[in-house]
Amino acid sequence: MKVKSLSKNASVVSLCICMTLLSLLSFHLEASAHNIIPQPNKVVETGGTYRLERLNFFVQDSSRKACLTEMLRLKLQTPTGLLLREVPKEQANLLFLTDTSLLGDAYTLQVDANGIEVRSSSYGGQFYALQTLLQLLPPQVKSNHKVGDVEWTIPCIKIDDAPRFGWRGVMLDVSRHWFTKDEVMRFIDEAAEYKFNIFHWHLTDDQGWRVQIDSFPLLTEKGSKRAFRVGDWWSYDSQQPGEEATYGGYYTKNDIREVIAYAAKRNVSIMPEVDVPGHSQATLVCYPELACMNAPKYVNVGNKFYGIEENSLCAGSPATYDFLEKVYAEIAELFPFDYVHVGGDECYKGFWEKCPKCQQTMKAEKLSDVNELQSYLIRRVERMLHQHGKKLVGWDEILEGGLADDATVMSWRGTKGGIAAAKAGHPVIMTPNTHCYLDLYQGEPSVEPNTYSMLRISSCYNWSPVPEGIDASLVLGIQGNLWTESVPTFRHAEYMTWPRGWALAEMAWSSNENKDWMDFVRRMECHFTRARQADINYSSHSVYNPILSAWKDGASTRIELKSEIPDVDFYYTFDNTNPDLHSLRYTQLLSVPKNATRLKVRGYRNGKLVGDLVEYEISKLKLQ
Ligand code: ACM
Ligand code: ZN
Repeated sequence: MKVKSLSKNASVVSLCICMTLLSLLSFHLEASAHNIIPQPNKVVETGGTYRLERLNFFVQDSSRKACLTEMLRLKLQTPTGLLLREVPKEQANLLFLTDTSLLGDAYTLQVDANGIEVRSSSYGGQFYALQTLLQLLPPQVKSNHKVGDVEWTIPCIKIDDAPRFGWRGVMLDVSRHWFTKDEVMRFIDEAAEYKFNIFHWHLTDDQGWRVQIDSFPLLTEKGSKRAFRVGDWWSYDSQQPGEEATYGGYYTKNDIREVIAYAAKRNVSIMPEVDVPGHSQATLVCYPELACMNAPKYVNVGNKFYGIEENSLCAGSPATYDFLEKVYAEIAELFPFDYVHVGGDECYKGFWEKCPKCQQTMKAEKLSDVNELQSYLIRRVERMLHQHGKKLVGWDEILEGGLADDATVMSWRGTKGGIAAAKAGHPVIMTPNTHCYLDLYQGEPSVEPNTYSMLRISSCYNWSPVPEGIDASLVLGIQGNLWTESVPTFRHAEYMTWPRGWALAEMAWSSNENKDWMDFVRRMECHFTRARQADINYSSHSVYNPILSAWKDGASTRIELKSEIPDVDFYYTFDNTNPDLHSLRYTQLLSVPKNATRLKVRGYRNGKLVGDLVEYEISKLKLQ
């Protein structure tokens, strides 16, 4: 992802329209007392509660027993301190039964006076039933150590559930910033609890190569390190002569195997991404013969370089195809998942225009422009992947010079790439930056860490992943993407991912009829408590901050404050003091008083402070 600007005003207007429509819609849906995210298909609360006092479990399908037992131990025994024991069926209060009438990852969960019964035909279904069960228990169950003095009660309930989409993805970019194996596993664990089932691992980019490749050892020896920088991404100084590249890391093949096994226990498949032919500066630093003319000297640190330094593999050099052949063979061998992501995004093709090898290939292959040259390269990569029994996924730029025969398209520049691909009969995964990019601001930018443009949680929730006029069966699903240019730590990765990831989880799992923004907000706030128990650094304040619009009305400046979620009251001052409950409450459009320099706003919910102290400099307000 590079710099992009979404229209903030347009998103505020569409947010209001969506919120009004959704609040009308929610009028028809019954309020529910449970707090499950994503919303299950059918929930019947049958009255009363069941008190969990023992964990006597029975698993009918012995092939699943080991994994389920590990999950029960980690997720139930550890926080409750109750003894986990495998027992014969008749003695069990926690049953996992096989039911072949339930397809795919569908499951039923019944809690009554006798205990808990799960039915499904797959491991996924059983795992998801367990996640739902955990969400019915008190929030302390999210703690990773024994919690005393808690009554582990569960409401008696009958749940029938199944996912809407088979592809419920979340992507982590580990190139721009480095995340350890343990952090990656934690990210997967947190996502799996919300029934995500694909982890898209963005393993290579201009700022670091992160996966061991035996045929090209320099990729990790040299390409996994860059000079250390803090501050604002894209404004850094490049690595200087004599400066050491100290920041980074990589995963060995054994590390990767460990993460794959860890994910599989959580019903998560891992799709690797090796991003070519663009986003390859780290590669060119290690293997200069893969560049068109002048390979860059240093792995990019987050300094500007597009169009100045090369970062695309030469599409006319035999060395490039040898490289691709060997790298994807090792990737295909390492990752068991059917799909391999080859990138294809934001490839700078300016050097291809000047490169004799690229020009020669274009002539020989009768390619009319550099977009077709990229498609030529991607088609060759697809053939390589097919030889290893893998399917190719690429970002929507792979459409530009003609789509490879069996490619699956990840639509990120809005949904138009996805629509075009589906119309051409290709499977698509919807991950538009307008609804799915977790690296963007989630609220008032002045109190958020610096990043690109705006993506509020209401925009993650309120959109249609299956556009009109296409074959809906070609939409495999949706995915949230966390690019990490401005995400230097794992704590911040959590902050950017949650709660927006919960909204995307519901988009991916729940049927359209079961979606209800107002009810989601209620459940989201319950999950804040759960995330706190688990020491997850979710964003606790962004949704409570004001959404400001300002415009000129004759000589005066008018200001409107809106809240993303209901029942937040804003108190404000223009006199530079910090507002509290004794200040003026926002009830109607404001007119900026003469000579005022600053508007300060704070949100309260039922008299309790929520969100941040937000300060707006009047002279810097963007007027509509
Ligand atoms: C992308 O954000 N460049 C796929
Ligand atoms: Zn070239």
